[in-house]
Amino acid sequence: MKKLTVVCPEATGTIAPEIYGHFSEHIGGVFYDGLWVGKDSEIPNVNGFRKDIVEKFRAINPPVLRWPGGCYAETYHWRDGIGENRPVRPNWWKKHDGRDEPNHVGTHEFIEFCELVGAKPYFAVNVTSITPMEARDWMDYCLSPQGSTTLALEREKNGHPEPFDIPYWGVGNENWGGGGNMTADYYALEYRRFATVMKNLCWDKSDLIAGGANGADYSWTKDLVSNLAGSNAPVDGMSFHYYCGKSGDCVDYNEDDWYILLGKAEKMEELIRRHYAFTVGHGMQDKMKLVIDEWGCWHPDGSGPSKGYNLFEQQSTMRDAVITALTLNIFNNNCQAIKMANVAQLCNNLHCLFLAGGENCIVTPTYHVFDMFKAHQGATCLRTLMTDNDDLKEKVSVSASVKDDVMTITMANCSCTEDIDVLPELLGLNRTVKSASMTVLAADDMHAHNTFEAPDAVVPVTCAADLTKPVTVPKAGVVTLTITLGE
Ligand code: AHR
Repeated sequence: MKKLTVVCPEATGTIAPEIYGHFSEHIGGVFYDGLWVGKDSEIPNVNGFRKDIVEKFRAINPPVLRWPGGCYAETYHWRDGIGENRPVRPNWWKKHDGRDEPNHVGTHEFIEFCELVGAKPYFAVNVTSITPMEARDWMDYCLSPQGSTTLALEREKNGHPEPFDIPYWGVGNENWGGGGNMTADYYALEYRRFATVMKNLCWDKSDLIAGGANGADYSWTKDLVSNLAGSNAPVDGMSFHYYCGKSGDCVDYNEDDWYILLGKAEKMEELIRRHYAFTVGHGMQDKMKLVIDEWGCWHPDGSGPSKGYNLFEQQSTMRDAVITALTLNIFNNNCQAIKMANVAQLCNNLHCLFLAGGENCIVTPTYHVFDMFKAHQGATCLRTLMTDNDDLKEKVSVSASVKDDVMTITMANCSCTEDIDVLPELLGLNRTVKSASMTVLAADDMHAHNTFEAPDAVVPVTCAADLTKPVTVPKAGVVTLTITLGE
């Protein structure tokens, strides 16, 4: 048995709600026949967006949604997605799946989706193939007050007199790769050009996020941070991307694969600490908090229900759920360094929450984990100590937080073979415990997942909890303890 100590007087920081963010790119089946079915579809929809997803996504309180890419952003021109006659363009991903981009979903539609689900938009701006002025024009179109500029009038003509609220703009995507194959120094100069003219327009409305490293490429971070620290360029955050990748098949993995992939996911903690150290070293820790705007598993393609039709569509099992919980616990425990994070991606792609096609639409185990962790959003993170937790094969990942009268403790059992009992101790708690409940996401088989035929094979179960006794965290399972506090 393990002992979990939650050190109630020791707060480690506030968990930015945006840590529970999402990402939706124009890639594969994310939008077309995924989130978007069209206004004339027989599939129940809200102004073209799949009703089932609107309702279920809203229920997990998504704080922020990144769009339109990804790599797609670096050939996107915002003008293609407004007004009546929208051009069809070769999608960035066409060389992989042959698809063209119809631009049915553009700025207005995407913002409407965000409003429907209660998320803030996070736009990724093309820095590879448009000019800083065109980026500024997009901002002008979106943010200028009603009746002011020519572009604000065009927005009004297109049905939205009021400005849009877009609090986050990313300046480029993966500029070390698909975003122009730049060096960090070259990107830093491009960033300075774009950011200067963009911030000049959105100075009081939006944050600008600089494009960061690929995984453990610390030399990118070193060069970018030192370049920006020595300039007057405005900056409000720095991204990095980390996909823990794959080990074995998406569904038919063995025990070794399980631990290899969890081990890769665990690397996230080191990445956060090391990237952030560069910003601290340059006194940029407040201006360049981390934005991990793409993360997740990247399994071999073709295991999703569409069987290869949708690029990078993959099934999502209890392994993905445990990795989600492990990662979100790492984010919580390092919340002082993190401004935002966005799991990739929302629907029919990579580490997704929804699988949809035609009339079918299901949630993945990862969706349930986001639901089970949502009470951490905006809460104060508490220090936790778990005994005997060094060996991944016996580890229970944990984080704890408190907000108003609710303490939330989330745990993931990294062992795929053994249930682990955990005895919680709320050290230094100076309030009474009114009640406690426990929500468990687990299955007998570590490969368990939901399908169109069996959509509820993996669902969480909630029951009362007795905090004087050990709590069992099932093998390959995730547990949330919800504790209601009194005076
Ligand atoms: O999420 C899929 C792709 O992965 C994104 O377009 C890109 O940014 C990353 O390489």
